Formats: sequence, structure tokens, C-alpha cells
Amino acid sequence: MKYTHNNGELNSSNINETVRLKGWVSKKRNLGGLVFVDLRDRFGITQLVIQPENPNYELASSLKSEYVIEATGVVVKRESVNNTIPTGDIEVVVNSLTLLNVAETPPIGINNEDTSLEDTRLKYRYLDLRRPVMQNYLIKRSQITQAIREALLMEGFNEFETPILGKSTPEGARDFLVPSRIYPGEFYALPQSPQIYKQLYMVAGFEKYFQIARCFRDEDLRADRQLEFTQVDIETSFLSEQEIQETIERVLFHTFKKVLNYEIKLPIEKLPYSVAMDKYGSDKPDLRFGLELASYNDVFDHYEIPFFKEKVVRGFVSKANLTRKELDELTLLVKKNHGEALAYLKITEGKLSGSIAKFMDESSISKLGLTEGDLLLLVVGKNYLSTSNAAGVLRKELGERLGLVSDTDYRFVWIVDWPLFDENEDGSLTAAHHPFTSPKESDKHLLRTNPKLCMAQAYDIVLNGYELGGGSVRIHESDVQQAMFEAIGLEKSVIEDRFGFLVGALKYGTPPHGGLALGLDRMVMLMTGTKNIKDVIAFPKTQSARDLMMQAPSSVAETQLDELEISFKKHN
Ligand code: AMO
Repeated sequence: MKYTHNNGELNSSNINETVRLKGWVSKKRNLGGLVFVDLRDRFGITQLVIQPENPNYELASSLKSEYVIEATGVVVKRESVNNTIPTGDIEVVVNSLTLLNVAETPPIGINNEDTSLEDTRLKYRYLDLRRPVMQNYLIKRSQITQAIREALLMEGFNEFETPILGKSTPEGARDFLVPSRIYPGEFYALPQSPQIYKQLYMVAGFEKYFQIARCFRDEDLRADRQLEFTQVDIETSFLSEQEIQETIERVLFHTFKKVLNYEIKLPIEKLPYSVAMDKYGSDKPDLRFGLELASYNDVFDHYEIPFFKEKVVRGFVSKANLTRKELDELTLLVKKNHGEALAYLKITEGKLSGSIAKFMDESSISKLGLTEGDLLLLVVGKNYLSTSNAAGVLRKELGERLGLVSDTDYRFVWIVDWPLFDENEDGSLTAAHHPFTSPKESDKHLLRTNPKLCMAQAYDIVLNGYELGGGSVRIHESDVQQAMFEAIGLEKSVIEDRFGFLVGALKYGTPPHGGLALGLDRMVMLMTGTKNIKDVIAFPKTQSARDLMMQAPSSVAETQLDELEISFKKHN
């Protein structure tokens, strides 16, 4: 029979009502002849009391954790109020109790305090997901998804699907390949994103597309990366870079307001890529705190510091008091991120101390612009980019260690004015975003003459140091697309083979278009204040790319391989 209330909603206004509740036994205890049961569902906990004269008393006494039960009873005021839960004013005196299912002792604790190893939690994910904290993550995920969908529909977007079995598109990672049984030796690729398909929707004349799209990338996993993840994928026609950004800002505003009652300050600040690298040493800077980087070569080139010779020196000033051990840890961090060394100077009572103090003189303090209590951390490195990068990682770490960040402070920033290409060590070029990104209008002529100088109509939206989304205005002219492919070194035959359909499609009246994709998992992660993307994905892969619950990947039957005409190379 239907239940009358969930376990999070009864309070003193329900006293004397007869209610029927269902749920899981979270805790059971016998006190003074009475049996008390904490009945749990995804809404909360309600306390049941079973008195000795109750015909179900035996059954109540035999209940164990995670048994599933149904109880009918009367709401009464509790003698000892529990202020930590919303139902803490009342309890339900049970008159009838039904056992719906029994449970073995769970291998992990079904509570927020559980400290089981992550591998155990992932193996028994269905139990892990029963924990209130995990339920909250996934319910928030649903609310966020719905709010985004609502905002996009209000903006006049249509929700369309794209194939999962398609052709490889270059988003910078390895493809997952799916062998074709009908065409042995040929493969579909799972989409790294629906990039080309969404552009083809624009060619077809649907000028506002979105999709909550699953994407697949065979790349090394990190705390904010999974093999399969979800994008809020968006494409529009006839809008400028600025207009696309404004649309996204409205969608983000609606979502944060609706789900968190948080008002994002609009318009979101814009920072050119070069300024982000210079001030923060990152293309996804955390702007919740300062600690801005500066270059110190001007000052230190006048001093004889052996390991500064012909190096780039970048750093920042804070008021931190770091121990020897902390400095050692930070040195390791710098080296792990391709910095060569970490040096520091501290001013205490007007005097300089620190790893390079012995090389300095009286005038150094004023030359460096330091004041009492300042700690100057300096990263020494090979070139501007790698040194800035290492100093940026150090800055972020210090911001966290000094407690300068709060999970409920949301600092958005658009990173704009990106170079169109990254230069490889051998001088060849790769597309910095993807090869469908348009150069700035004024740089289009450089594509065939001096591509390295081309700037892109690309933009990333960054939140609290995470890349939340990325997008661009696309190339809509067939000849520009051809020139782009040539600039990244694709032979004509390869262009024809891999992208012939796209170059062809662009010849049939393609409108100017552009879009962006938000990483939904990252967004949920940031909006729920967790640091681990796995927390907001119901069935994620481990860091070593395994599904521990299903035991995937796994071998398959020989007959399946035979059908696909697949045999494996033997390793000696
Ligand atoms: P991009 O590759 O920048 O752009 O991806 C967009 C956003 O998707 C999220 N993301 C990921 N999240 C979890 N795990 C991953 N492995 C992962 N990879 C990416 C990030 C990222 O900002 N087609 C373009 C978009 C466009 O140009 O419209 C694209 O996929 O939050």
C-alpha cells in the first residue's frame, strides 16, 4: 500500500496523525523494553517506537541494519527532542509493522561517516549510493541538469541527439574504437564530443541546438576527469563570440539561482589568455584570491646567484609562515610541474632570510618592494611558459594552504583571446582547441602565410580554478577550413578521407556559427563542493580505468571475437 509521508517530513504539526512509512532500518536499539528504529529513506530519518505489547514486537526486535520495512503508526511528541534532524520533535508509535525484505550485513557503513576504502565503495556502489551524502550529490545533479535544460529551452534551443557510433573527431584525446562485425577491419569511434554533428545541425538550419551528451575519451584519469563524461553541448548560428558568451551566462545564472539560490555577478569578467598566464600562471586561474605572479629577472639579473643564471625567475609575495618541511613539499611540487627550483626570501624585523638571502644586499628589500612579514616565493625555470606554469601550481597550492578559498564562493572568468595553434618542439602546429575553431576575423589572411600568429575566436569558462567549459566561433567557409587542416600538417588525401564530408558540407551555404560545451560532471562537482568527480557520477571508473562493480573491461567469448575477425598479437 502507498506510504503517506517520507521519512524527512513529519514534525510537530503532524502529532496524532496516523501515518504509513517505508524505508530501510538505519539503526535499531532496545531501551527499557521499547524497540527504537531509525527508519531511513532518501529524504531523512524518522524514529519509530515499538512497544512490548505490540503483536509485531518480536519482529521489531529481530530487525537488522538495512532491512526494508513498512510501518503504520501514530505521530507523537518525543520526550527527548533531537535537534540534529528535521523530524527530531516527533516519533511514530507503531501499531503494525511489515518486513518487506531482509539484508545481509553491508560491507560498507550506510552513513556519511563511513571510512571504507574507495575501492570497496566502488565495488558495492549500489550501497555506497544509499549513503545520504551520495544521494545528495546525485539529486543535485538531477536538479542541475533540469535547471540547465529549462534555461536553454527558455532561450529557444532545441534538444537534439547525435550518434554514439560515428567517426573519430579530433578533440585531442585517444578514441574508443568499436569494431564493425559487418565490415571486419573497420571501426566506429565513440564521440569525444558531438562537435562535427552539432555543426552539421547548423548547416541544416537548426540555429539553436543543445544536448546533454555523453562523451568518451581514452585519456589518463585525474580527480576532475573520467573516460566517459557528460557535456552540456551547445551550438548556435549567427551569434558573435560576445553573444554566445552572454547566452551561456544567462544559462549559468539561472542554474545557480535555481539550484543554489546563488546569484552570479554578470557580466562575467574576461581575461585574455596571455594575461591569465602572466598573472596566475594558469589558463584556468582561481580568482578567489590574489597572490599574483610577477617576473623577477629585472632584479635578480643584478645578483650573482648561481642557479638563477640564464633562467626565468617568476614568483609571488604572501604573508605565509612556512616550515622547512612545507618548503620541501612545495619544492617537490614545483619540480613535479617542470620548475627547476624553488627559492625564497622572508622579511622578519627588517632583515632578509631564506634560501638566497646570502646573495642579497641592503638595497634588495626595496628593489623587490617587500615589506615586513612578506614571504617571496620564486620559481626558477627553463622558459617563460614552463616557469609560469609551475609558479601557477604553487600559487594555487598556497591559496588552499592559507585558507584563502571557500567552496561556496563562485568566481567565474572567461579566458579569451587564445592563440589558434600550439607549436610543437619540431616547429609543427596543432590546433590549440580543435581544428574547427575560427581565427579572429582580422587574422584569417594569416592562415596560409603566417599561421603561428593567428589568434582564435575561442573562449573557456573557468570556475574556481577549473575549466568548466570551452567553445569557439567555428570556421564556416570551406576554403578556410581547408587552410586550417593544411596548417596542422594534414595531407590533402587525409583531409578528404577524414573530413571530406565536412569540407563538402561547408560549401552548401553554411551560416556563421559557434558554441560551447560545459562539463556537466565538473559543474555538479563544484556546485556540490566535492573535489572528486567520481562523487557526482553514479557508476564511475577508478583511477586505473576500471569499473570495479561490473568488472569491466573484461574478456569476451572467443565466438564474439571470431565474428569480428579479431585476433590478438602475442606478447613474448
Ligand atoms: P572540450 O574538449 O574543452 O571542448 O570539453 C568541454 C568541457 O568538457 C569537460 N571535459 C571533461 N570532463 C570530465 N572528464 C573529461 N575527460 C573531460 N574532458 C572534457 C570540461 C571541458 O571544459 N567540442 C568542444 C566544445 C566546443 O567547442 O563547443 C569540446 O569538447 O569541463
